[in-house]
This record gives sequence, C-alpha cells and structure tokens, in this order.
Amino acid sequence: MSAAPRRKAGAHTLALDIGGTHIKSAVLDARGLLVAPPVQAPTPRPATPARVLRVIAGLAAAAPRFQRVAAGFPGVVQDGVTLTAVNLHPAWRGVDLARRLVRLTGRPSRVANDADVQGMDVIDGQGVELVITLGTGVGSALFLDGRLVPNLEFGHHPFRDGRTYEELLGDQALKRIGTRAWNARLRAAIATLRQAFTCRRLYLGGGNARLIEKPLPHGVRAVGNISGLLGSIRLWADARTVPRPVRRR
Ligand code: BGC
Repeated sequence: MSAAPRRKAGAHTLALDIGGTHIKSAVLDARGLLVAPPVQAPTPRPATPARVLRVIAGLAAAAPRFQRVAAGFPGVVQDGVTLTAVNLHPAWRGVDLARRLVRLTGRPSRVANDADVQGMDVIDGQGVELVITLGTGVGSALFLDGRLVPNLEFGHHPFRDGRTYEELLGDQALKRIGTRAWNARLRAAIATLRQAFTCRRLYLGGGNARLIEKPLPHGVRAVGNISGLLGSIRLWADARTVPRPVRRR
C-alpha cells in the first residue's frame, strides 16, 4: 500500500479502527488519503476501556500531527457513546468514547460503529447497499442512496439452526472449521442476505475478507480492510474540509 504525499493545507485526521484483535491507526489528509502507512497494536486483554484507551494513547503519541480524531468501534455507538462491545469487554456499556478521545488527544473526536465506518468508504451511494464485515465479529451496515441506517447489528441475528451470523462466520468459527467450510457457509449467508435486503451491492470487508474465494456472485465484492480506517474521514464529512465524495477508484 502506498502512502499519499503530504498536503500542506487542511485538517489531518487521526483515524482509529478499534477491533477485537488489533487496534489500527493512520493519519489521513483533508482528502482522506493516508499521510503515512497505518500502524497497529494488539487489542489488550481484557479489553477494558482503560486498557484500550492506553493503547490508543500510544498510537496517538506516535502518529504524525493531526487536528481531529475519527474512530470505528466494534459495537453499537450512539452520539459517541458505546452501548455494546461483544468482543471487547462489558465495561464498554455507556462509555462516552468520543469525550474520552477528546480528553486523551486534546482534539475534537467522533466515533461510529466499525462496519458503518468501513461502509462509508466502499459504497457508491446508489440504492440499497449492504456491507458485511468478517473479522473477530461479524459487522453489518446498511445504506440507502448513501444514507446510513446506523447500528444494524445483523451479525447477531440468527442465520442457521438458531445460531447467529457471528457465531457461524466470526473468527472463532473460521478457526474451528477452516477456510474451505467457512467459504461454503459464507456463500449460503450471501444468498440469504441478498434475499433479505434485495441490495444492489453487497460488500464484504473486515480482516477475513482476504480469505474469500473468488469469483463472487454479480453485485458482491470483497473490499480491503484499509477501508475500516479510510471510511472514518466521512465522520467529518459535514466539516467543509472534506469534499464529497471521496473516491479513490
Ligand atoms: C458487533 C458489531 C461490530 C462487529 C464487527 C460485532 O460483534 O456487535 O457492532 O460491527 O462485531 O466488529
């Protein structure tokens, strides 16, 4: 992955992708391009707010200069407050993460669900578009004409035999059944999801998207996990510094 040249003007954003296995960070320029290659640190265990914030403090301190923060979080987020975090720790319930990030970095901060953030980078803004992220957990994001329905959380809905998409397609299942059987399961899930949402496009992201066997059905695309960082610039899209749309394809 190549780093974009540094721009002189415009706010730089510290992008954070908080995951169940890794916490990634990068600084993006005003157009949403990487200022330097992303870095990552293992998610601490137990992944309590204090411990995760300590890791973020380290990443922020090592990052190039930035004027604002945008973070994707692996759970339900409302107005910057985290309400669930199945793959982190129960203590995340009711944490004002946006405020904590402001305190930690001294910069204005915005937070949204990680799948929602990844979706913001990959959608093309037309019709119904569904994003499923495959990583430690299974994330989901739904868009209509580019507008997000936040916190869909479809990963916790039943898929087969009373078990959820996350139970059957998350990291633990992948390790248990292997890539081949996981891909077969994923095909079945893709068919069900497309039927349920009649989506124009279905994007498959998250760290395990790289294991998806090709070809994929028409309208279904695997996307790079870097979108989990790049999409966070959209959280600041109402700030006039980010022209719409940010496109790199
Ligand atoms: C969480 C989602 C998240 C997904 C991927 C799930 O367990 O409930 O909010 O998007 O994991 O991190």
